[in-house]
Amino acid sequence: MADLIVFASPLYFWIISSKLKAFIERFYRIAEEGPNPPLGRYEKYPVKDCALLMTAADNYFWTFEQAVSYYKFALVNYIGFHDKGMVLAGGCGDTNGKPHINKTIHLREAYEFGERIYANV
Ligand SMILES: Cc1cc2nc3c(=O)[nH]c(=O)nc-3n(C[C@H](O)[C@H](O)[C@H](O)COP(=O)(O)O)c2cc1C
Repeated sequence: MADLIVFASPLYFWIISSKLKAFIERFYRIAEEGPNPPLGRYEKYPVKDCALLMTAADNYFWTFEQAVSYYKFALVNYIGFHDKGMVLAGGCGDTNGKPHINKTIHLREAYEFGERIYANV
């Protein structure tokens, strides 16, 4: 069984893609009945670490705000996964343009992020 679930998505209309959302909705399948569910949760989920990787065309301070808010609210606070961090890669190209993440620092940033996650375990 995996220790860490990495949620990765391009930013689509300021939120995660519908494909990733559909995947998250399937988590009900692995939920179990919880005798004392905390904070309005109706069921309990396996204990897992999680991380968020996202790309976007824009690169403003608020670009990922709603996606990060959703991640924290639904996956960390509600489901109860343990957040191990995120890489938010703004400035990665536009809808009609050619991808240019390889011209940014974000691929290296993501690589180093992955290396660090369990570095002290
Ligand atoms: C349907 C759609 C919606 C998008 N919405 C946004 C958006 O709200 N904000 C943004 O910065 N980029 C937006 N983008 C751009 C993508 O986030 C960007 O293309 C992607 O992160 C870069 O990865 P790619 O090279 O695989 O396309 C959108 C792209 C598509 C296709």
